[in-house]
Amino acid sequence: MAGIIKEIASRRSIRKYTGEKIPEDYVREIIAAGLLGASSRNIRPVELIGVRDRELLEKLSRSRQIASPQVAAADLVIVVIADGTKSDVWVEDASIALDNMHLAASALGVGSCWIQVRNRKASEDLTAEDYIKELLGIPENYKVEAMMTFGMPAEEKDPYDPEKVDLRKYHADKF
Ligand SMILES: Cc1cc2nc3c(=O)[nH]c(=O)nc-3n(C[C@H](O)[C@H](O)[C@H](O)COP(=O)(O)O)c2cc1C
Repeated sequence: MAGIIKEIASRRSIRKYTGEKIPEDYVREIIAAGLLGASSRNIRPVELIGVRDRELLEKLSRSRQIASPQVAAADLVIVVIADGTKSDVWVEDASIALDNMHLAASALGVGSCWIQVRNRKASEDLTAEDYIKELLGIPENYKVEAMMTFGMPAEEKDPYDPEKVDLRKYHADKF
């Protein structure tokens, strides 16, 4: 197994970080991966907000009813937003950006984890999206899909085995 299949099978959600800084050239490559994905009608409505300020990270970690400690522990969190007035399929575009960054980080030996924001709550009467928009000064027309935490890994997880995928989920010609 080599190349892209190996990278896909090796990607895991890493939630524990050493506290070391991620090398800047790696951060640049991860950002590029996020912005290089496919985009419906090539509209490219996705933008990224990279957060490294420790106080903001602490506040971001409280954006969900169920706490996300890996947000406060991360060296970098990238919040993935999209201009919802430009594209009706911004969710798909934003998800591609997230997965590309997840894969790029994994290939570089950087740990990362997706933290869902859309359809999640910060408290009983506040959405996680509104909490984050207020915290980071995101304009009204932008939507927030999710954030991705990044840090040098302090845990190891086994890669998946492509030979063991459940092929009952693949339907030839008809369901
Ligand atoms: C749409 C989506 C939302 C997710 N939301 C969260 C989340 O809020 N918090 C979290 O710790 N992991 C989250 N994850 C990561 C999943 O829990 C993880 O991908 C799954 O457990 C499989 O593990 P693996 O990524 O190591 O293969 C999310 C993943 C996806 C694709």
